[in-house]
Amino acid sequence: MKTALNEGGCSSDEVEEIVGSTTYTKIDASSIDDLTSLLTGLQGRIVLYFALPPVVTMAACKALADMTLPEDLFLAIEKPFGTDAESAHEFNTLLAHLPLPESHVFRVDHYLGKATVLSLVGLRFTNRLFEPVWNATNIESIHIVSDELLALEGRAGYYDHAGALKDMIQSHLLLVMALLCMEELATFDAFELRDLQAHLLRSTHLWGDDPVKASRRARYTAGKVGDEVVPNYVDEKGVDPARNTETLAEVTVEIRNARWSGVPITLRSGKALGDGVRQITVVFRPIAHTPVGFHDEAPQNVVVIGLSPEYLRVQLSTNVEGDRLSLEPTVLDADLGESPIRPYGEILSHILDGDPLLSVRGDVAEDCWRIVTPVLDAWAAGTVPMDTYVAGSAGPSNWI
Ligand code: BG6
Repeated sequence: MKTALNEGGCSSDEVEEIVGSTTYTKIDASSIDDLTSLLTGLQGRIVLYFALPPVVTMAACKALADMTLPEDLFLAIEKPFGTDAESAHEFNTLLAHLPLPESHVFRVDHYLGKATVLSLVGLRFTNRLFEPVWNATNIESIHIVSDELLALEGRAGYYDHAGALKDMIQSHLLLVMALLCMEELATFDAFELRDLQAHLLRSTHLWGDDPVKASRRARYTAGKVGDEVVPNYVDEKGVDPARNTETLAEVTVEIRNARWSGVPITLRSGKALGDGVRQITVVFRPIAHTPVGFHDEAPQNVVVIGLSPEYLRVQLSTNVEGDRLSLEPTVLDADLGESPIRPYGEILSHILDGDPLLSVRGDVAEDCWRIVTPVLDAWAAGTVPMDTYVAGSAGPSNWI
């Protein structure tokens, strides 16, 4: 804790004060007696933060259901919320029976705490340049990509059971999509934001309702990411090749409403990818008519929003210097700067303030599972091939 607080810029007095009032207690999280002794005597707002496998958190919540709980108790539950649609529903039912309001339950997804993700609301709804054109009439396709340089990092115990689809797309990327594509906000608060996320996700379905055509998966083989030598995924410690876990997943969805019908939205994330691209790309439709006389078709407008690092690029069509009849793409590029508060800091500060703005509501968590379930089923049935890519490359060579 000392190291983290020092790195976070706390003064030595602050570090001493926090560390001095901190205790470490080891308990069985599913035991009523242990939980009671943990909670007894605590004052003020209490947050029980579960960074545990879903099945253990559920066992703890079952124990809480039979206890008298302190009034100002909040629960924070790390993703994944459940392990599939059914267990997420079961988990929500369990939480609904706790003597706690839903507003005291924080389903944590740290992507909602990312500065660029939250800034999507400002970017979309406070710019006349974007707000009126953010629809299928003007937009051709959307790509939300989080390609990580990191490989397994010794997390086989969790990751080999999850894979890229459950780890990243089921939660993080669908929520980013919800903010990018939801209807307009009248008020920026937890009620409206979460209603609009739920509204958007309810109308989201796999492209063509066909999990085989709408998804791809792949796994890395031995390679190098930068200077780091990465072993074949299946040879990593703790990996069971029989689980057939993917390290790169891609899913295309459609939002079936008047604003978005017909626009393919592709979500992709993977590990040990050399390009490390983490961005949203919004491709606009070609202009209806390029005036006769120009030598070229106008390049399409493209808006790129960097998730990490944080940047904004807007591609326009402009004249080639010195040639008024030739067109070329020109990119306006702005570095948005790093937020002083990191995503988990943002999430924690909302929990401590009791503001559920960044908490994933129960119905939203279930809908995210509903969207990816046909893909999980198709992959389990083996109807989508497992491609391969060399660690450090930009992905499978046949995925162009
Ligand atoms: C976590 C996943 O939720 O998000 C990790 O479990 C992943 O596998 C991480 O590496 C990515 O987060 P960020 O903030 O680095 O994009």
